[in-house]
Amino acid sequence: MSDLKLAEYILQHVKAGGRIIEALNRISPMMAGGERYDTAVVGPFAMPWKHDAMFSMIYAQANAIERGAWGGFSVEPRAYILLKMAELALQCPAGDFVECGVFRGGTAFLAADVFAKAGAQGRFHLFDTFAGVPDADLTNEEKAARIGGSFGDVSVDETRGNLERFADFVEFHPGFVPDTFADAGIGQVRYAHIDINTGQATLACLEYLVPRLVDGAVVVLDDYGWPAYVDCKLVTDEYFSEQGLPGVIPLHTGQAIYIHRSNAERYLNF
Ligand SMILES: C[S@@+](CC[C@H](N)C(=O)[O-])C[C@H]1O[C@@H](n2cnc3c(N)ncnc32)[C@H](O)[C@@H]1O
Repeated sequence: MSDLKLAEYILQHVKAGGRIIEALNRISPMMAGGERYDTAVVGPFAMPWKHDAMFSMIYAQANAIERGAWGGFSVEPRAYILLKMAELALQCPAGDFVECGVFRGGTAFLAADVFAKAGAQGRFHLFDTFAGVPDADLTNEEKAARIGGSFGDVSVDETRGNLERFADFVEFHPGFVPDTFADAGIGQVRYAHIDINTGQATLACLEYLVPRLVDGAVVVLDDYGWPAYVDCKLVTDEYFSEQGLPGVIPLHTGQAIYIHRSNAERYLNF
């Protein structure tokens, strides 16, 4: 049922004296692979990214940077979550921001805008080849999915230009992750966005960043729930399990979030 038809259906129901919740309960769920998916329980009504004027303005600017690479449906809710997580990270008294997987700088732009508006102290470190996903260290599945070489239509100068207004706190670390971590000299971290698409690089980011997280720090893993990037999920789950840390919280956007507590215990395994 399209959004418009759904709205029409609900309106008719309400006009006839019914309640919205009754109408929603009657909308038939979708069946796929024997699983029931409730298509319209909150979806059409809970899209805060469509109703937040401040977000829409920043998103439009980030979207322009991406030169059409961002599809609204799949990126807009993720961008909204990212922005909210950056705000949450600023509740930590200190620590740098880090992004691994920057491309043209769209998601870095969102977090940098939050950082700048808050007048935050610290640096925002950006790690990427700025020449696309390298072929090194790919699993057979990643090779089959042709991840290597993607996101190559960019240069460090282009991304630097896109983030020029944040030049006083943004630091570029162009090159291969994890090699570029060695000289980065990062101390404490309160916000990390990992959007690097491959399993080995995701693991390297976690190994470098998690020990540097301050109490309350936020990590957003963009690739966690995407079938094409399943290796990112596998290494993430294994890493947190091996470290005895609480796992990440998977979101319906495909992202996963992790909020670091210095004295954390594992989540209960329901
Ligand atoms: C999905 S893109 C990042 C998108 C970006 N966050 C945005 O705002 O649109 C993934 C990026 O990870 C980078 N990347 C992947 N593996 C890498 C590695 N081992 N070292 C450095 N950069 C890497 C690619 O160059 C690419 O720009």
